[in-house]
Amino acid sequence: MLSLSAIEAAADRVSAVARRTPLEYSHTFSERTGAEVFLKLENMQRTGAFKIRGATNRIATLSDAERDAGVVTASAGNHAQGVALAATRAGVDSKIVMPEHAPISKVKATRWYGGEVVLDGVDYSEAQTRAHEIEHEEGRTYVHAFDDEAVMAGQGTIGLEILDQQPDVETVVVPIGGGGLIAGIATAIRCQRPDVRIIGVQAEGAASVPASLEAGEIRTRERVDTVADGIATRSVGEQTFEVIEERVDEVVTVSDEEIALAVTLLLERSKTLVEGAGAVALAAVLEARFDYADGEVIVPALCGGNIDMNVLTTVILRGMIQMGRYLKITTVLKDQPGALQGLIGIIAAHGANIYAIHHERASREIGMSDTEVEIELETHGPQHAADLLDELESAGYEVDVIK
Ligand SMILES: Cc1ncc(COP(=O)(O)O)c(C=O)c1O
Repeated sequence: MLSLSAIEAAADRVSAVARRTPLEYSHTFSERTGAEVFLKLENMQRTGAFKIRGATNRIATLSDAERDAGVVTASAGNHAQGVALAATRAGVDSKIVMPEHAPISKVKATRWYGGEVVLDGVDYSEAQTRAHEIEHEEGRTYVHAFDDEAVMAGQGTIGLEILDQQPDVETVVVPIGGGGLIAGIATAIRCQRPDVRIIGVQAEGAASVPASLEAGEIRTRERVDTVADGIATRSVGEQTFEVIEERVDEVVTVSDEEIALAVTLLLERSKTLVEGAGAVALAAVLEARFDYADGEVIVPALCGGNIDMNVLTTVILRGMIQMGRYLKITTVLKDQPGALQGLIGIIAAHGANIYAIHHERASREIGMSDTEVEIELETHGPQHAADLLDELESAGYEVDVIK
């Protein structure tokens, strides 16, 4: 099983390429939760995620012959960029197989870091098949995204940094996809400080670990569906599962809505941009998915910041809905002059701001002399939104809230 000494041996190699990322106290999240929350800002890592650590360590352990033959991997996300940069820095040739419809921004970033991108397959699984073919055809070493001891050891250097930066830490919260990250961090921390709790977090739509732990063997999901694409994995690995069973205290889940709220709060309050997978650890703290005491020193690991701009727009909107700051309503008015004025007069007097307004006359659901109005509004919070809805209903409007 992964050892502390393997992680300590990785530390020098990793620090030659990766950044030691900050650990910052958060007034906002400490106040909200009653805990003492310190954020491990791994979203500020080179390439935007921790993957550079494991990839650097794996490539550093190649023999001369393996270095000459180069490496290959399959990834649609952060691992692609991590391997590309780690290989380039080590002077090793890399081929990265990405699904044909991988986001263009990720393809470009991977090329920018010096990886040769091969676009093949409709999804990750097909890309992986192609990567293994290249492994055998060209004699390249396959760099696994998580189920590899050198990769886990590299990710574990985050655990060494956390202990060094905050020796009073009591609980560390870590996202789980394939489990390499948590295996590394849990080993680094528990082998030195068995008193520190390690909590794993998965997205509800990609959770396999709680069922696997219960069964005592790895369970694989049929499909995954979550906004946190970095941890959208059908199962953990064999080696990572062994470490999780041994060294992780508890594994909890959070919903996509809770993830969206955490991303939005981090942006608004901490000026920090994370991707969905980077927000799950904080979401679990905010939703109190595990028990913690007042004043407990908790470190959620914010492991990546590579979020697609289109996805970010949707996530912020969902986050605003969760915060009671965005409301979409429909109601039916008489199709006559002044009818709309009456409605928006109430909204204006209440201090809600109209983002967009849309009139619909063609609907068969309404009378021919009626018009349906859909309004998107900015409200101040859940109470402000609820009061506005009450006021509209008291004034005789039948209002539907669109979720
Ligand atoms: C941002 C981010 N967080 C967490 C993870 C989970 O890491 P692991 O697959 O090692 O569990 C990933 C994996 O790609 C990731 O990209």
